[in-house]
Amino acid sequence: MTASDKRDILVTSALPYANGSIHIGHMVEYIQTDIWTRFQRLRGHKVTWVWADDAHGTPIMMSAKNNNTTPETLIAEMKQEHEKDFVDFQLSFDNFHTTHSDENKQCVETIYNRLYKGGHIAVRTIEQLFDPEASMFLPDRFVTGTCPKCKTEDQYGDACESCGTTYDATELLNPKSVVSGAIPVTKNSEQYFFKIENFDAMLRDWTSGEHIQPEMRNKIQEWFEGGLKDWDISRNEPYWGFEIPNAPGKYFYVWMDAPIGYMASHLNLLNGDTDALEKYWGKDSTAELVHFIGIDIARFHTLCWPAMLEGAGFRKPTAVHCHGFLMVDGAKMSKSRGTFIKARTYLDHLQPDYLRYYYAAKLNHKVENLDLNLEDFVARVNSDLVGKIVNIASRCAGFIYKNFDATLAEKLPDNTLFQESKDAAPSIANAFEGREYSRAIREIIEQADKANQFIADKEPWALIKKQDQQQEVQEICTLGINLFKNLVIYLKPVVPDIAKQTEAFLNHNEFKWSDLETPLLNHKINKFKPMITRLESKSIDAIVEASKEDLKASNVAAGPVASQVAGQAAGQATGPLADDPISDEITFDDFAKVDLRVATIIAADHVDGADKLLQLTLDLGGEQRNVFAGIKSAYDPAKLIGRQTVMVANLAPRKMRFGMSEGMVLAAGPGGSDLFVLTPDDGAQAGMRVK
Ligand code: 2FM
Ligand code: ZN
Repeated sequence: MTASDKRDILVTSALPYANGSIHIGHMVEYIQTDIWTRFQRLRGHKVTWVWADDAHGTPIMMSAKNNNTTPETLIAEMKQEHEKDFVDFQLSFDNFHTTHSDENKQCVETIYNRLYKGGHIAVRTIEQLFDPEASMFLPDRFVTGTCPKCKTEDQYGDACESCGTTYDATELLNPKSVVSGAIPVTKNSEQYFFKIENFDAMLRDWTSGEHIQPEMRNKIQEWFEGGLKDWDISRNEPYWGFEIPNAPGKYFYVWMDAPIGYMASHLNLLNGDTDALEKYWGKDSTAELVHFIGIDIARFHTLCWPAMLEGAGFRKPTAVHCHGFLMVDGAKMSKSRGTFIKARTYLDHLQPDYLRYYYAAKLNHKVENLDLNLEDFVARVNSDLVGKIVNIASRCAGFIYKNFDATLAEKLPDNTLFQESKDAAPSIANAFEGREYSRAIREIIEQADKANQFIADKEPWALIKKQDQQQEVQEICTLGINLFKNLVIYLKPVVPDIAKQTEAFLNHNEFKWSDLETPLLNHKINKFKPMITRLESKSIDAIVEASKEDLKASNVAAGPVASQVAGQAAGQATGPLADDPISDEITFDDFAKVDLRVATIIAADHVDGADKLLQLTLDLGGEQRNVFAGIKSAYDPAKLIGRQTVMVANLAPRKMRFGMSEGMVLAAGPGGSDLFVLTPDDGAQAGMRVK
């Protein structure tokens, strides 16, 4: 590659919210980004991958409050957790920063000041909903009420999930604050708007080009037809974010500072060198800027973000690559089915290459959902990675190691197959470049099939028994090992761990794309150890079971209100990726199976070694039950004794680390100290069924 062929590419993934764990839905995008990034590096290009935690906004402020902590502590802990998940998933990012950083404040203020000076900011007084109990203006998703159009109840303040109408929160009928349950009042408030309409012509032109996937263009057309309304980039205090310069009590909306977090993470990587930053972000930059995102945040990245960059005198993205959502076994990830799998839960049981491979085998360049079919997952990685790829090395390596002093032959038995394996390169490269990973995998596996067929036809295990065929065996196995080498080079962006082990096995320095060209001849190899072993179904069962356990652990202390607030944050973090436990519908018959009883708490104690649990003895009128309840953050056990509560009496007993739990106490609330066990009306008798 000549210096002029070498591309300089700045890559980003969407910033995860700093108040929730990473799950395998997030991993689709991060693995997609990582494969592309590793592929470009393998080809010799310069790639810098920067991203960050999305650390501002009301949901984070509320999560911190509910957990009796500060937003600073919450986001610091989350950042550590996220980064560890990413490293353990072998993501090859250059910097993972946070939007709550000096660099981001600096970049946000630069962009805002330039937009202001350019006449792209309007200040207007608008009516907003205010929670008189919590003393705060309510963000759209912190208000529920009845849709003004179709009258469906329980809709958020921005759009109706039933009829799709979008509206202002002030238009909701019977509004209610999600924060306190109070009825909001309207209050006038001055807000700052980004006049995105000023960029209408530029955006129409920009979105019609190659920066956007063709199938996104229709969607974007609809947005233009709906009109580019001024975008409210300010929020009133209390708000967790950056204060707007010269606007006391007003804060930048989280969505304003989030994409700027890409730039800020880059500035952090560059140790604050703004000249170096300008080389990438300046108008004349020749570097590429490539964003990977999910469809749920396409509008921000294809309209607001390029307009902000343009208005502030920066370059616009080279490409915004949009992907669909993860489904598991054909349905949305479900906490109750155990398919809402956290990255950490996966990593506790399996190495990342299995999932990386499966996602690659299913990903393409379109905005389509990806289905992780758990049975197919096991079958596919076993058949391809273990049965076809690693198998080639395992069939050949032993002979070379034992019979030929671990040395490959001086020549190949014939060049055809090796030549074919090299000839596949342009098409496979083209597939990776265009994010058609499933095509790349298909073509790689075709090559593997040929290699396996060759070995099966030649039967080195039979030839080795013949004295005069020794050299032939060495050459056959040398070709086998070289075909394996090329397959692993092709797969290196997808399965970095297998590639690393293969480099060690072959005594080779880090594979480059150009290493496809040359066979290893007269070259010492090491003893073969399988780079990956069969994926057992029982590992998948264990992951699903552990994910159900995650749910149980978090559900003990999370009633409907907590779920609503948490779901709010999770909803933003995951878009329509995941369902919420409370929205998994059950039939009336299902509900009728739940035996709710009023019980008297006759004993309550702390549990040694448990942070959240109290051990309760419940009297159901003649029968006593031992129940562990995650309500320690809200109740002093001594004060619970004698109180009545509602419990699920026919829940199958569950063995916990601390003993058997024989039922569940019902509780609701945002969590922390605001958690309330449900108590029946006065006069209830223990053991009475709840109607
Ligand atoms: O939807 C989300 O999860 C957002 N946290 C993504 C932000 S990406 C970018 F704009 F910063
Ligand atoms: Zn409606």
